[in-house]
Parts: sequence; structure tokens; C-alpha cells
Amino acid sequence: MHKVDACIRRELDSDVLMIPAIGNYIVDSGGKRLRPLLCILSSRLFSYAGERHIPLSVVVEFLHTASLLHDDVVDSSEVRRGTPSANGVWGNQASVLVGDFLFSRAFEMLVADGEMSVLALLSKVSNTLAEGEVLQLVRTFHLGMTEAEYLEVVESKTAILFSAAAEIGARVSAQDDEIIRRMAEYGMCLGVAFQLMDDVLDYVADAQDVGKPVGHDLEEGKITLPLIHAMQRDDGLYAMVEAIAERDGYADGEREAVRDAVHSAGGVERCLEAAQEYAERAKACLPDSGGPAIRQLMADLADFSARRTH
Ligand code: IPE
Ligand code: IPE
Ligand code: MG
Ligand code: MG
Repeated sequence: MHKVDACIRRELDSDVLMIPAIGNYIVDSGGKRLRPLLCILSSRLFSYAGERHIPLSVVVEFLHTASLLHDDVVDSSEVRRGTPSANGVWGNQASVLVGDFLFSRAFEMLVADGEMSVLALLSKVSNTLAEGEVLQLVRTFHLGMTEAEYLEVVESKTAILFSAAAEIGARVSAQDDEIIRRMAEYGMCLGVAFQLMDDVLDYVADAQDVGKPVGHDLEEGKITLPLIHAMQRDDGLYAMVEAIAERDGYADGEREAVRDAVHSAGGVERCLEAAQEYAERAKACLPDSGGPAIRQLMADLADFSARRTH
């Protein structure tokens, strides 16, 4: 992970000083670096001895960072990782454009890596990430959202990048197609668990603990699993959400009222259960062929994704 951080710094370099300024700002603000960690662990699982996994981990983290820069503009979020978000400090234009820089730098790095199958994988992934964000936008305040529609958004906006991170480790160490498929599936299930928890935390956490706004998803029209489940069981909650959609925001006290109703109707519990189910599925995908110590760490990472508190 030290090598990953050093590589991030190198690759943020540009003569246009605003780029490393914003890049370093967001990188220094923390972040769990979960996706590069996944990429490194999956390379280690198969005893990969080369160095390609380091820049490829950075590619994955850059795609993630770029999508955060864009996401905070789209979601009008002023706080990220416990500090003012880049759009809060430099404004929307700078965030969007530096996000574009990170996307294109990631692809320069992929071309330097030179393996067409990895380039193809991450081209497809970034395409799907964009589709996922657009799909979510199209479904703003879509009160009839089904679990299946919700999961479609989750897989494309979040899980697909975790999937790629895990798949890359199998690819650089030249595993066969079946192992590559299983690692991709592991990452996908872990990624769904991770986003399910993100969506639970929006209803249960303190903004201080998660370092970003809470109660914010509904405010932005995002209908997530805790709410979907609760609305199906509580007509009063459904009516309240309808009013919030019409008004395009909370009235006084509604943020707390929605939070309480989502809890009492079992939305939180259902979403936690679903996250754990996905973590179990992820663990079941891990191949027996890899090293047992790393395998255990990867299983722990799946559990962490379904139990995390930040
Ligand atoms: C935030 O991802 C965006 C989601 C997919 C929920 P992370 O929670 O991994 O963000 P950082 O990098 O640790 O801040
Ligand atoms: C994560 O969705 C989507 C991205 C891939 C950026 P969210 O909008 O829930 O992420 P946070 O909560 O702002 O981190
Ligand atoms: Mg957001
Ligand atoms: Mg969120």
C-alpha cells in the first residue's frame, strides 16, 4: 500500500498546478483505499511476483476518486472524508475537470501497462460506472423502485469497480478463465455488500463518523433499499416520501421522522441482512487454490464490507 501511495503521487503530477493541488487534497484527506487493497490481495492470493498490480491498483483508485469528484457535484455534497469536499473548496467546475483528468490519466496508465484484456475490462467498467450514475439520476424520486431496479444501479455504479479490482489480480497472475470469473464475482458481491452498507449508514450513522452528510440520499431523490423495504410496509412513510418528492426537500423534522420510520418498518434490518448475504456469496466465490492466509484476509474484507461503520 506504501507503493500504491507513492505511485498515486507520481501519477498526479502535472504542470497545471491545480491538478496536483486538488489531487493531493483529496488523496491526503484519507479514504480507505479499499479497491487498491483488493487488487493487491487478489494478486497476492495467486503469488504474483511482478509489479504491474501497483499501477493497476492506482488506476482503480483513480477511477474511484474521479467518480467521487463527480458524485459530490451531482449530489451537491459539501463534505467528504470528514473535510470539505473538493467542490466545496474549488467549486464544481474544477471538480468535474480534475475528475476528467483522473479518468484520462487512468487510461494512459492502462495503455502503458499494455495488456489489452485489462484495458478492455476497465473501459467497460468506466462505461458501466457512468451508466450507473445516469440510471440513478433517471430514477430520482422513483417511488415505485423495486429491489431489482435498485440492485441494478448498485451493481453498475459501485460493485463493478470492486469486481474489476479483484479480477485484475487473477489476470496479472495469468489464472484460467474460471478463476478469473470467480474473482470477478467475489468482487461484485463484496461491492454490493459495500454499497448496501453505505445506504444503511445514510439512515443510521452520525455525519461525523462517516465523514459525509447523512439523511442525504432521500434529499437527493435516491430511493435505496432501507427505504424501499420500509415504504412497502408503511403507507404513512410512503405518503411522507411523496410529499418530500413534490417539495424536492425535507420539511422541518422530516429527516428524523423518515429515519425513525425506516428503522421501525425494518428497513435497516433488511438491508443489513442483505449485505451479509452478499458477503457470504462473495466468500463462497474465493477459490481454494490460492494461499490460505491471503484468502482469509479477503474473506474478512467481505465481512468488513457488510459490517462497516464508516
Ligand atoms: C464511497 O466509497 C463511495 C461508495 C461507493 C459508497 P468509499 O467508502 O470506498 O470511499 P473512500 O475512498 O473510503 O472515502
Ligand atoms: C456512490 O454512491 C457512487 C459512486 C461510485 C461515487 P453515493 O452517492 O452513495 O456515494 P457517497 O455516499 O456520496 O460516498
Ligand atoms: Mg454521493
Ligand atoms: Mg452514499
